[in-house]
Order: sequence, then C-alpha cells, then structure tokens
Amino acid sequence: MKIGIPKETVAGERRVALTPDAAGALAKAKLEVIVEAGAGSGAWFADADYEKAGARIVPDALAEADLVAKFHKPTSAEVARLREGSVLISFMYAATNPDLVQQLAARQVTSFAMDAVPRISRAQSMDALSSQAGVAGYKAVLVAAEALPKFFPMLTTAAGTIRPAQVLVLGAGVAGLQAIATARRLGAAVWGYDVRAAVKEQVESLGAKFLEFDIGVKDAEGAGGYAKELSAEAKQKQQEALAARTKDFDVVITTALIPGRPAPRLINKETVAGMRPGSVIVDLAAETGGNCELTKPGEMTVQHGVTICGPINLAATMPVHASQMYARNVTELLKVLVKDGQLKLDFNDEIVKGACMTHDGKVMTK
Ligand code: NAI
Repeated sequence: MKIGIPKETVAGERRVALTPDAAGALAKAKLEVIVEAGAGSGAWFADADYEKAGARIVPDALAEADLVAKFHKPTSAEVARLREGSVLISFMYAATNPDLVQQLAARQVTSFAMDAVPRISRAQSMDALSSQAGVAGYKAVLVAAEALPKFFPMLTTAAGTIRPAQVLVLGAGVAGLQAIATARRLGAAVWGYDVRAAVKEQVESLGAKFLEFDIGVKDAEGAGGYAKELSAEAKQKQQEALAARTKDFDVVITTALIPGRPAPRLINKETVAGMRPGSVIVDLAAETGGNCELTKPGEMTVQHGVTICGPINLAATMPVHASQMYARNVTELLKVLVKDGQLKLDFNDEIVKGACMTHDGKVMTK
C-alpha cells in the first residue's frame, strides 16, 4: 500500500501530515511512503530527510497514492486528482461540508475525518482536535504577551515592583487549559472560566483560579463531554456577568466552542469598551464567528483602546511540533485501519465507524 503525503495548499499552512521520523516508522512497517516534493518545507523537513527515512519523493502524491494523509479537507480539484477507490485521511468537518462528502463518495474514495475520531480513551493518541487545540492554546498566550504593553510576570527590581498581568481564559477545554498552563508558566495571575462544572477542578489543578458567577445553569455539559448551547436568558446573564468582571483583566483569551454551532458570544462591544485601554483579547473562536463581537477573523485591530486578535489556523504557526503531533495521530489511526499492508475495516470498531465519512460509494456520516 502506497501512503501519499501531499503538500498542503491552504494559504499560510506550514504543517505536513507526516514527519520524516513518522514516515520512517511506516517504511519499517513495510508500507511504501511517497511524499510530494516540498511537502515538508514549511515545517523545515527537507525532501532529503524523507528520502533518508525511506520515503520516495514524487511530483503528485494525490494522484499516485492508495491512501492519502493530509491536514486540510481537500478542494474539489484535489478530490478529482485522488485515485478512484483510494483512501483519504484529513480534517473534513462533514456537517458543514456536505458537498465534499458527496464528491468523495462519488469518486469511490473511502474517507476518514480526523475531526470525527471519537474522543474515547482508546483513541486519545489519534485525537488531532486535541493535539492541534493544545498548540493553538499555547500560541494564543504568546500572541497576547506580544501585544500586551506590560510584563506577564511579577518583577521586583531596583526600578520598582511590577504587578503580574491578570489573565482570564474563557472556555477551558483543551486549548483553554493549555493557555492557562502557558500563562502560568510566564508568571501571570490566571483565572479560568467554563460552563462545564467539571472544569473547575482542572483549572485549579493548574494553579489558576476559577471564575464563578450565577447564570442560572449549574452545569452545561452535554453529549460527549461537550458544552450545550445556553438559553437566551443564560447567555444574557453570562454576557452581563463577564462585562462586570473583564475590566479587571489585562488579557482575555477566549476559546469557547459548541460543536456544529456558531461560537458563543461571550464579550459584546460594551464589554470591550469597559476594559482598560491597552488590554488584549485573543479570540481563538474567530474562525467560527468569534467569542467577541468586535473580533475580525485573521486580523489584529485596536478598538476602544483594546487590542483584539482574531488569529486563524494558529497551530500552523508552530509547524514542527504541530506536524509531529498530527503525524502521531495519523499513524495511530493507520494502525486501526491497515493490517499487513492492506486496508481492513472493522465497522464494529467505534473508531472506524465514527471516523469513516464515505465508503463503497456511500456517505457514512451519522
Ligand atoms: P471545545 O473546543 O468544543 O470547546 C472549548 C471549551 O469551550 C469547552 O470546554 C466548552 O465547555 C467551553 N464553552 C462552550 N460554551 C461556553 C460558554 N458559553 N461559556 C464558557 N465556556 C464555554 O472543547 P474541547 O476542548 O474540544 O473539549 C471538549 C470536551 O471533550 C471536554 O470535556 C474534554 O475534556 C473532552 N475531551 C476528551 C478527550 C478524551 O477523553 N479522549 C480528549 C479531548 C477532549
């Protein structure tokens, strides 16, 4: 079986689905690995590194591979280049991309969405949502620190004592918890907040404080451990409570998401106007509508004296480790899908069933 790694075509993308080390491990497992020329260059992995690991450099990995592993969902043109009957592994977000799934089925491609791998213990090593969210959470703090006209840590110097930056992280899932840990390491005083009750203990275990206020909902945890959307009344209460509290903070990092829904609006424009000039908001939900009303996706703006950053695809700015982690996720999924060099699908396995989007010309989404 030929495993193909194409070069990503999304603007600004520097990650690659397989590192030379991971390619080497597959080659040792008797799989043939073909890598499109220059696929790893954005992450500083040279073609020669892949060749040394036992891979072959080719001009068009999509067209030649039996199984393609990539980061981003393929474009229509990329689907058209996939071999009929081949296998694809990538992020897909099928619920919001029904045409893509139809096109893959029509091309007889068996496809697996990394975003649909069930988040069960056995599949933790395949959880690319988590690996990439962790990278984004870390980098969000660095973006904030760069934009903040202040130190993060407390400093006692001959020129006076500097108070630590006050950082609030809204939404303490995978990205939020990594942001909390990173801001703590930089020496800030950190608070976390989430609508899921279980998160309080996790936030406190990282040495941060948990921000609490009454929105009339004790615990908004829903199916699969994800947050449920709040009622209009609870949303209103949450926005008002946050408006009262955010003015105490130098940095607000927002990471709140609800699967398949627009990002919850946590910070409205009045709240921004109430914050101290010079404060910073980093909105990791920019791509799905933003947690802050004034966020402009992909931009950094200053509004009411507050710097608002709406980075998109932040994990791509740390391509070496983001690729290394994604490569591990893909490699572990391959162990479930490929046995003795052949695709062997067991649809009784919840990982296979959950991640498979198309097979045998049919759409398999639930
Ligand atoms: P996510 O990216 O969907 O959401 C980020 C955070 O935003 C979540 O913590 C969510 O509760 C919070 N949120 C949503 N609406 C909010 C609001 N209105 N106000 C404040 N916060 C709000 O979540 P992520 O990071 O993907 O994790 C989701 C769940 O999956 C968590 O329970 C996590 O522990 C669990 N998980 C389980 C894994 C496993 O067992 N293998 C692996 C990774 C995550």
